[in-house]
Order: sequence, then C-alpha cells, then structure tokens
Amino acid sequence: MQAINLNNNTKMPILGLGTWKSDPGKVGAAIEYAILEAGYRHIDCAAIYGNEKEIGEALQKVWKQGIKREEIFITSKLWNTKHNPERVEAACRKTLEDLQLEYLDLYLMHWGIAFEPDRGNEPLDKNGVIKTENIPTRKTWESMQTLVNKDFVKSIGVANFTAAMIIDLLNYAKIKPVINQIELHPYNSQLELIKFCKYKDIELTAYSPLGNPSLAGNMSPLNAPPIQKIAKKYKKTSAQILLRWSIEREVIAIPKSTTPKRIKENSEVFDFKLDQKDLEQINALNQNHRFVNPADWWGIPYFS
Ligand code: A2P
Repeated sequence: MQAINLNNNTKMPILGLGTWKSDPGKVGAAIEYAILEAGYRHIDCAAIYGNEKEIGEALQKVWKQGIKREEIFITSKLWNTKHNPERVEAACRKTLEDLQLEYLDLYLMHWGIAFEPDRGNEPLDKNGVIKTENIPTRKTWESMQTLVNKDFVKSIGVANFTAAMIIDLLNYAKIKPVINQIELHPYNSQLELIKFCKYKDIELTAYSPLGNPSLAGNMSPLNAPPIQKIAKKYKKTSAQILLRWSIEREVIAIPKSTTPKRIKENSEVFDFKLDQKDLEQINALNQNHRFVNPADWWGIPYFS
C-alpha cells in the first residue's frame, strides 16, 4: 500500500476505510472484510461515530487471523465535549478501551471548538446555537501532546482546521500536527489549504472523498458527467476516479462503505494513473461546496 510520510518520520497508508455513518451491526463485518479480504491497512474511527466498540471486537478477530497490530494504521478523534484538559486523557483511554488497543497511530482534535460537556454531544441553546466551553485550543493541544509523551498515541493532528487555526496552533505546538483531516472531493477541492498545509509539513486526509453520497444524493460528484466520462475511458467506476484523483494529489482518502463490493472497488485504485488533461478536468469541477457544514447543525458559521 502506497504511504505518505508524516512530519514525525512515520508513514500513513494513502487509502483507509472511513467509518462515519457506518451502522452498528454492519461496521464490524466491514472492518473484517476490508482488512482480511480487500487489503486495507488503515482504518479511520472517531468516538462520536458511536461504533468503536464494534470496531474493537472486529479488530480482535483480525488479530486472531495473524494480522499484526503494527500492520494497521488506526486513527481516532477527540470529540468537542472533551477539550477540557481534565477530560482529554479519559476520552482517549475510553477510545482505546472500546477499540481494544494499547495505542492509536493517530489521534485528532475532531473540530477546533470546545462544547459544553454536560448536555449531550451537541448542546444547543434555545436559539439552536451551540453552547461552547471556555477552553482555548492551546490547552487542549497541550493535553494531546501529553498523550504522545505517555505513549497512548504515536501521532497527533487536527481535523476541520482552517489556515488561521493552524497558524495559531503552530505558535505554541511543541509537537506539530501531522495531519489536517478535512472535507475534500472535486466539488470542494481546497487547493489553497492543501498547499498551505503541505508548505507547513502537515499532510491532508480527505473525508467524504466521494462527496458523501448519503448526504449529497444525486448532487454527489460521483454523478458529475466529466467524472463518468473519465471513468468510462479507464474502464473504472466514478468512485475509483475520485479516489485516484485524491491519491495523485498526494492526499490520503478514507472512503466509507459497509458494502463489501464497494469496499473492494474503492481499494482497486493503484493499477492506473490519470493523465494531466483528466486531472485538469476534475480540478475544474470545484465549486467550494461543502456537504458537511456545521452552520446547519450548530448555528455557527464555522468556516466563514
Ligand atoms: P455504503 O456504505 O452503503 O456502501 P464518503 O466516504 O464520501 O462519505 O461516501 C460514503 C458513501 O458513499 C456511503 O453512503 C457509501 O455507501 C457510498 N459509497 C461508498 N463506496 C461507493 C462506491 N464505490 N460507489 C458508490 N457509492 C459508494
């Protein structure tokens, strides 16, 4: 599996299995299939996805089949209600317990915003605006660094960080983030943010690399006529073209699926290469369109 070198001299497989919206009851079988049958070596998890226990049970079965822990790159994420330094280590320990692991390869701050802790995962006020907690990102990052020093996690990073948030973080980070995980697909290609992160030696993971068809429906870039045309040319599927485009931009991609046929299909992207004209055509599809936008959920213009 092709890998990306991270700024702490570790390597991260360029393709992984996403697990956001992977339903309990299905996610375990998907993990087993991905690792044992389709050759995946990277799994992307998060506490907020509510399925880490089942993933942990599936991983136990995987280890019993002779796969070694160090062969699989496993990411998880700190949820926004756990930013208080008093809660960071406990949150990480809970994820490790659920996943039945001794360490994570990568732990990300899921968003650059702290939520009030005692009213559920997404506490809204009476106007539908998220209730924040007065915890500066710096405090949370210092606790994330402690997790590395205590060997709970090998690397730390961020998700959904803007350039300004990264600039601020780099002012005080003793351990630099290795990754910024953001929404990336041809309708939201974020070329400038990718360039900036790479300039700062921070790599990118693309979430929703297929344009999140479960949220986007027919508006997903899988249905864009230029993508379908390019797919025909290479005798590949639209999904494979989108993933190949990500790989050629040296951006790690974590397509989610719980369907064995698609899990396999999404892994078969290392036997062809898009030519310059195809890449330009795909780049031209950008509309700066997000399918994942907290303005809708939390009443705040997070990305503005
Ligand atoms: P499913 O899990 O039912 O197979 P993204 O990673 O961009 O968020 O996309 C995930 C969504 O895309 C899921 O709804 C998943 O459905 C679907 N999906 C995953 N792989 C493919 C594929 N190769 N072709 C079409 N849809 C796919």
